[in-house]
Amino acid sequence: MIDNKALMTAAQKARQTAYTPYSHYCVGAALLTKSGKIYTGCNIENAAFTPGNCAERTAIFKAVSEGEREFEAIAIIGGREGETADFCAPCGVCRQVIAEFCGKDFRIILGNENSIKEYTLDKLLPFAFTDKDL
Ligand code: THU
Repeated sequence: MIDNKALMTAAQKARQTAYTPYSHYCVGAALLTKSGKIYTGCNIENAAFTPGNCAERTAIFKAVSEGEREFEAIAIIGGREGETADFCAPCGVCRQVIAEFCGKDFRIILGNENSIKEYTLDKLLPFAFTDKDL
């Protein structure tokens, strides 16, 4: 059984590989599948800026590319290099990508250096546009 703290530890470790020469803001994410596997991701920036990818999407795309589609939770931790005093909430694009694969009750766990708080996808992306709208 992987609890929020263990998932956050995986996110913290993933953050160590963030490639952030432009923003110096490092993010790590750890995505838990319903079968209990963890896929991690970090943000990866680019000199042309727009091709950069967030940590959350790195983790989700890694998992989906390995055949995973059923997700339970994601832990996220970010801050400027060497700092995790504040919580890092997922950007709008990442919320939309999460909504593609996850239901309203999917858990989004945010960590800073001394605490963890938990939201649902529905709380962070109410009234989402999904396949049901098409
Ligand atoms: N970033 C993430 O990886 N996840 C978030 O939830 C917010 C922002 C990254 C993108 C960029 O590399 C850096 O943080 C600053 O925006």
